[in-house]
Amino acid sequence: MPLLQARNVSKNFGGVQALKDVSLDLPESAVLGLIGPNGSGKSTLLNIIAGVEKPTSGLVTLDSKRIDNLRTNRVVRYGLAKTHQIPKPFSNMTARENVAVAVLYGRRNIHSPTPALEEADRILSMVRMGSRKDAPADSLTVQEKKRLELARAIATGASILLLDEVFAGLSPEELKDSIQLFKKLHDELRFSALVVEHVMRAVLSLSQKVMVLEEGRVIATGSPDEIVHDEKVIQAYLGSKNPAA
Ligand SMILES: Nc1ncnc2c1ncn2[C@@H]1O[C@H](COP(=O)(O)OP(=O)(O)OP(=O)(O)O)[C@@H](O)[C@H]1O
Ligand SMILES: [Mg+2]
Repeated sequence: MPLLQARNVSKNFGGVQALKDVSLDLPESAVLGLIGPNGSGKSTLLNIIAGVEKPTSGLVTLDSKRIDNLRTNRVVRYGLAKTHQIPKPFSNMTARENVAVAVLYGRRNIHSPTPALEEADRILSMVRMGSRKDAPADSLTVQEKKRLELARAIATGASILLLDEVFAGLSPEELKDSIQLFKKLHDELRFSALVVEHVMRAVLSLSQKVMVLEEGRVIATGSPDEIVHDEKVIQAYLGSKNPAA
């Protein structure tokens, strides 16, 4: 039984149809990659699942319970957490304080600052940000801010992570490192994840299945290998004969 399902989700922003009849299944502990050109609706889909936006039509369910009519804070209680494509930490707080807020806000049974800060330290070490825990968030590099976003999502106790381009802008070496870190975290925590990414290498190596959006529609769903060889995907999205390049 799939854990998270979207059914026939459409979203209009004024005259712009950002999503058209999109459905997906995210089974427990699975990693589903979500790719597509700029403006194809990836972030909008994550926002709808996370309760940030409401669908114009269609529905989102978690273990058969409807969640598309809930506010973000209720969705977090159900175990979903989303990172922001543009990191949005509390800039006047340190990295550990930012993560501690997520611990307190989430569905963990931790309700006071001291244990929340201790838990924040543990999570920052897990994502290899331990040495930066006392840095003010606004002094972090873009990559560190992205990792902080990941730490904050994990800190809520989420069993489903919605990751919006957490691997963007990395050097090949940093990317290798981050992919390895993601795999380790997934092995340890067994969350399921919807991973939005432009970096093809990251999507293909992390996901069991990949879904491709173009102009708000799903044009292909399949294994990374199937997606790489799909003519529609090659033409519509990648514009090249070798999408893995
Ligand atoms: N709040 C909004 N108001 C109006 N239009 C929006 C809003 N959010 C998204 N859109 C439009 O919806 C479409 C899909 O945008 P979305 O951000 O979901 O794309 P994306 O696939 O995440 O793109 P990118 O790869 O650039 O992040 C775009 O045409 C965008 O301009
Ligand atoms: Mg986006």
